[in-house]
Amino acid sequence: MAFEKNYTVTLSDDAFRRADEAPDEKFYAIPRFTSHIDCFAIDAVTDLYRKYLPKNADILDLMSSLLSHLPEDVSYQRVVGLGMNARELANNKQLTETVVHDLNNEPTLPFDDDEFSAGLLCVSIDYLIHPVAVLKEMGRVLKTNSPLIISYSDRFFETKATAAWLSLTDEQRGYLIKSFLVDTGCYDNIQMTDCSPEFGDPLYAIVALVV
Ligand SMILES: C[S@@+](CC[C@H](N)C(=O)[O-])C[C@H]1O[C@@H](n2cnc3c(N)ncnc32)[C@H](O)[C@@H]1O
Repeated sequence: MAFEKNYTVTLSDDAFRRADEAPDEKFYAIPRFTSHIDCFAIDAVTDLYRKYLPKNADILDLMSSLLSHLPEDVSYQRVVGLGMNARELANNKQLTETVVHDLNNEPTLPFDDDEFSAGLLCVSIDYLIHPVAVLKEMGRVLKTNSPLIISYSDRFFETKATAAWLSLTDEQRGYLIKSFLVDTGCYDNIQMTDCSPEFGDPLYAIVALVV
């Protein structure tokens, strides 16, 4: 898809409700040593990172788990993974640091202003109940001109995805994410692309630069 429309997403009052409203720590207590998209979609994510991430970047991989999908042949200064399960993060070989932190409980990020030069958010934005607050925080901890690369597919934990996410098509979800970014006032050059491989899981990306 081309993401060429001027689609406006209208959110209902229950947009950020979820079928499973129990604390997220319960759902993520058991580690899932698995990938959440297939190998073709992972390659598409890696290609995006190869294209947009500066060499030697200080990277924050938000909502991280076992895999960060970074190119293996590029070196980065620092790769911090923030997620819900300590064992998944500990087994992620691309992370240099790990942080367990529930963003739905506390959207404030435990990092200083301008600490990172790139941000990643892969196949996870659908679980955030305070997405604008979290993306605003990303804008605070990322330096000016840092890329934020958000990707999504059509696979998710249905009981933990927000009502808004479940109600939209893949294309509309891109516009929803764009509206979150615009609402933060922290990003510019917001580009939406369909990077879906020929086979397997679709993969869409929204790349923005911090102002
Ligand atoms: C579908 S997995 C994606 C993991 C990884 N980004 C990837 O590309 O494989 C969703 C991840 O979001 C993280 N997550 C879900 N809810 C969260 C929350 N409330 N706060 C922080 N991270 C959360 C979990 O740790 C989980 O590993």
